[in-house]
Amino acid sequence: MSLLEIAASFDHNDHGMRQRCGVIYASLRAGCPVFWTEAWGGYWVASRYQDVYEAARDPERFSSAPGVMIPPVGHGRPLLPMESDPPDHSAYRELLLPRFAPAAVALLESDVREFAASLVDGVANTGRADLYETLAKPLPLLMITRLLGIERDDLFWEWVELLMYGRVDGADPETIVVTAEALYDFLARQLELRRAAPGDDLLSLLLQGDVNGRPYTHDEILDLAFFLVIAGIENTAFSIRATLRHLAVHPDDRAALAADPGLINNVVEQSLRLYAPVTGLARTAACDTNLGGQGIRRGDRLLLLFGSANRDETVFEDADDFHLNRRDGRHVAFGIGPHRCVGSHLARLEIRIAVEELLRRVPHFELTGPDPGWYAAGPLEVAWQTGAAGQAGRES
Ligand code: HEM
Repeated sequence: MSLLEIAASFDHNDHGMRQRCGVIYASLRAGCPVFWTEAWGGYWVASRYQDVYEAARDPERFSSAPGVMIPPVGHGRPLLPMESDPPDHSAYRELLLPRFAPAAVALLESDVREFAASLVDGVANTGRADLYETLAKPLPLLMITRLLGIERDDLFWEWVELLMYGRVDGADPETIVVTAEALYDFLARQLELRRAAPGDDLLSLLLQGDVNGRPYTHDEILDLAFFLVIAGIENTAFSIRATLRHLAVHPDDRAALAADPGLINNVVEQSLRLYAPVTGLARTAACDTNLGGQGIRRGDRLLLLFGSANRDETVFEDADDFHLNRRDGRHVAFGIGPHRCVGSHLARLEIRIAVEELLRRVPHFELTGPDPGWYAAGPLEVAWQTGAAGQAGRES
């Protein structure tokens, strides 16, 4: 397939494309850095770091309010604060930021560690596990439900999974709407309980929000709560899985980390950079404009291809390689500009602790079958030795 054909049919959701993304993104950055694809009704794609950086930081030219997901979730409501523009956006964001600031998140470390340790303890003596189901999925679920002050319920995962993966995997649109309504109804009931008896949780916090002096409407509160559930679970689970899968297929990196636990932050950053869970998010041109030499018309959608910006050779040396000794903090896995991820510190904490707690009990593990890859969520079946043999491995 020629480069022009690849560009014209490009779909950032396609697993096959994500699997070969190193080669494909590099050709796109070199040959047609800002290009038009016919997928999902047609959209522009910015593949270079500098164009992603420029567009993401300019909400006046590139708006988020019309929607940033291609395809959209399909439930007909905005994902707040992500799908809003100034000035409302700043009001939504400022309410959340203190709860997710580094100092506030540092206080959550013992909770995250306790949850992760108990999940790992649940499988450590069995000698094998699907680490996606037993660790990567439940840890963010436990944390977000703790922060929202609601009981953990596996229904949440089913809802989130259907809403996020179902929309690209062809789930029936009616099922998406019914699922979203179930989650909204659940959150509405929880908010009623908080109104009667406020606590220290995020739902109670949302009840106190205001936009330029007027309280948030009921719908705004629900939309913010809905997005926190989705944002807090899915991408972190994806990242924990991708990091553990990397360590399973790269025993040298696992051994280096065991020998020098101080490398853990580098491991987390490299994983986020190379295996970016959010491949790309869109903006809509608010005026006729230009990006990377391409004329973009008002109303056109533009995808910021974070996954490709993270592999841009003009910014990252040996861009497609996992460098254990480099932190690469400039990556855009959490986005960039005014919408940069509010939960980045929490996500990093959860990924780090999931790895630390697994390695503490299970220092050597390997895949039981073919490499499932990092690019799609799904089972991560691994095995390890238990008892005296495992203990010997731990001490070696
Ligand atoms: C590895 C895990 C995560 C990744 C890769 C990730 C990625 C992103 C990205 C790329 C954006 C930018 C949106 C844009 O530019 O339009 C974003 C926004 C956001 N994320 Fe995350 N996220 C993660 C975890 C979390 C967690 C744990 C939370 C909260 C519990 C969270 C809450 C948010 C919120 C509220 C926004 C909207 C910010 C705004 O519009 O101002 N995220 N995230």
